[in-house]
Amino acid sequence: TSILVLNGPNLGRLGSREPDVYGTGNLEDLRVALESASRSDHEIDLRQTNDEATLIGWLHEAVDNGSPVILNPAAFTHYSYALRDAAALVTKAGLILVEVHLSNPHAREEFRHTSVISAVATGVIAGFGFDSYLLALELVERRLG
Ligand code: DQA
Repeated sequence: TSILVLNGPNLGRLGSREPDVYGTGNLEDLRVALESASRSDHEIDLRQTNDEATLIGWLHEAVDNGSPVILNPAAFTHYSYALRDAAALVTKAGLILVEVHLSNPHAREEFRHTSVISAVATGVIAGFGFDSYLLALELVERRLG
């Protein structure tokens, strides 16, 4: 089983996009950090897309393959019911889905205070930069055994 680490819109710009909010590391740095923190033989499959349909397709793939998911839905967090329904398919299938955020959305603009994903996620880790993902990985690996 591989562990899917899925990233939504604009996260491909990580490193140069609002570094004061999101840090200076890019997605490749995140991949390296996850791989070196990994304590299992499970492959870490890190992906990013700006496209809602692609992200939904990847969640369907998780269901079909029985893969746990670490998901940063980015701005889709706040309004995508289609992504929420796809995330619900994952957790309803008994698979872990950790919603992660680099920043703490609750400390930011009002529109970021709502997540339509959280209620169908297994749990949420937000506000710790790359460590949000690393903590999520630890949880996923602990549950995979
Ligand atoms: C984010 C927070 C979202 O509000 C924002 O739209 C993002 C990134 C985060 O990781 O902090 O793109 O998900």
